[in-house]
Amino acid sequence: MIDQVGQDEVVVHDKTFVPYISPEEIDKRVKELGAAIVRDCGDKQPLFIVVLNGAFMFASDLIKEVPIDCQVTFTKLASYQGQKSTGVVREVAAIDIDVKDRTVIVVEDIVDTGNTLHHYLKDLKSRGAKEIKIASLLNKPEALQHSITIDYLGFKIDNKFVIGYGLDYDYKGRNFKGIYQLK
Ligand code: IMP
Repeated sequence: MIDQVGQDEVVVHDKTFVPYISPEEIDKRVKELGAAIVRDCGDKQPLFIVVLNGAFMFASDLIKEVPIDCQVTFTKLASYQGQKSTGVVREVAAIDIDVKDRTVIVVEDIVDTGNTLHHYLKDLKSRGAKEIKIASLLNKPEALQHSITIDYLGFKIDNKFVIGYGLDYDYKGRNFKGIYQLK
């Protein structure tokens, strides 16, 4: 459970967050992204690789908007502790399907420094993926340290820590329907 919910802010552990992106805005944008994926990849039998944990809610809603012939699998990459990126990417759980010659859509919650995806995209290329696209709910352009093209981006946001809709602060806040920003 969250520690405290106020009218305009929420306290999680030791930090206060304020509403930033509403559930309605997310819903509208996710539907648009789903339609774009159908348009671009409808006949490509794409393989969605959902990056756990943070992308679980976004992926669940997004993929429901993509009623095409596709496959879905999950990976877990760890590069974060608390609020700071460690710069080290560990594959905690690997995918269980061959990416060779596939159109792959990597589904992320947020591209922050881009460190996680930079390493993971290199890995997917070396394993023979034919085409790699990225779907990310959020991106902090000011924090980006690598050249990464996000094909399906929900929202560009300020360089401030956010939680909600799958994103957490030390495992809390993932269940919030909207996105909240550090006050
Ligand atoms: P990157 O490697 O710096 O791009 O960060 C990737 C991962 O860090 C994301 O998939 C998130 O899980 C986590 N992350 C980055 N920024 C935030 C944030 O503001 N809130 C919660 N998690 C974040």
